[in-house]
Amino acid sequence: MRPEQAQAKTTVGNSTPAPPYSEDDGKALQDWFRAMRDEHPVHQDPATGAWLVLRYADVVTASLDHATYSSELWRAYPAEWGKGDAWGQGRLTEMDPPRHRLLRALIGKAFNQRTVAGLAPEIEATVERLLDAVDGNAGIDVARDLADPLPVMVIAELIGLPFEDRELLRGWADRLLSFEAGELAGEELVKAIDAAGAELLAYLREHYRLRLKAPKDDLFSRLAQAEVDGERLTEEEVVNIGKLLLIGGHVTTACSLASLVFELLRHPDALTAVRQDPDLIPAAVEESVRYRPAVPNSLRLTTHDTELGGVAIPAGQFVSLSALSANHDERQFEDPERFDIRRPHNQHVGFGQGVHYCLGAPLARTEIRIALTALLRRFPVLERTDGPLQYYRNPSIAGLRSFPVAVGRG
Ligand code: HEM
Repeated sequence: MRPEQAQAKTTVGNSTPAPPYSEDDGKALQDWFRAMRDEHPVHQDPATGAWLVLRYADVVTASLDHATYSSELWRAYPAEWGKGDAWGQGRLTEMDPPRHRLLRALIGKAFNQRTVAGLAPEIEATVERLLDAVDGNAGIDVARDLADPLPVMVIAELIGLPFEDRELLRGWADRLLSFEAGELAGEELVKAIDAAGAELLAYLREHYRLRLKAPKDDLFSRLAQAEVDGERLTEEEVVNIGKLLLIGGHVTTACSLASLVFELLRHPDALTAVRQDPDLIPAAVEESVRYRPAVPNSLRLTTHDTELGGVAIPAGQFVSLSALSANHDERQFEDPERFDIRRPHNQHVGFGQGVHYCLGAPLARTEIRIALTALLRRFPVLERTDGPLQYYRNPSIAGLRSFPVAVGRG
């Protein structure tokens, strides 16, 4: 069943749509989540027909049960939308085990802790270059000047794409995320996203062919040699993996870094603490991913009739697992609205949970830690200004796209 086919009937008394994330720094949305977690923790969204799952325990249960909550959303789309066979196209996020396990192990091999650790000096140099470019200005835009360009440059380096193409890559990512909530739906949305991604795929194809001819020490060259079940990956698979990493690792990391700086400036005690003791930065990164997860929800498709949190959900329904609500569930987190960089047992679901747990989490953590460390070192003075904040308006991403701050050497 397609989302717009799902009956738009209200199964809950309160059919008030959720307030937008961007207004009031998300406070109204969190107030709405809190009330809904108490009264209707699992309910069908009257606007889209998808089932919203808002409590932490239910989000974890569904994330761990991939047999019931499938990631193969394309199975619900009609053939003419052209979204079949995620496997043949290497679309890792859209496949279930056992095929998912095989492909993930293979990408993981080419993308492991050692690769990430080896990237640290390059990340440090990239951050310094970005900060050099704005040093001397009275103000910087944390999102546009640092958080947004950094991950593209890092992933391009990892894949083996030319540094000079970073603006092209940013432009494509921007187009893919420029769809605003409610603007398009169903087939129109699926096709518009595919069209926006077509140029990027053609570009990646060209570079993959170069690597086939002349391998180097990069991800595309390693994937060209990799085998699953004794078979080489196809060009289509490798190219789609490249796209997934570029899109999945870009704005997510950018938003998370900007959110962390945003929260530190709202919480001067925490800012002073991380300035005095940079060893606190990794825990601050985790707290920020809990507090403001860049991926606010993950979609699944029920494979059979089931029940979650005492609510019956039929087969063939879209289910939206809300990390943004689960990470603020008072049943799991003490005083969840407090931004606490010393929070114990911070088992948030900001990087997902289960077999699809974020493959890029070690890279994201490393990038954010290095960038924040350098930003604090470079600017002893870092303050909010009256400049307007801009948020992503795309429902699949939550965070700032423009965040001006005043900087100084003290
Ligand atoms: C702070 C930044 C990031 C956040 C908040 C984030 C969040 C997530 C989440 C929530 C999922 C699970 C989606 C689901 O269950 O359907 C996921 C999966 C994934 N992420 Fe990230 N991500 C981040 C950075 C990155 C980076 C830097 C990369 C790579 C360059 C990356 C690559 C992936 C991939 C490949 C998957 C799919 C894993 C699978 O399906 O097995 N992510 N991410």
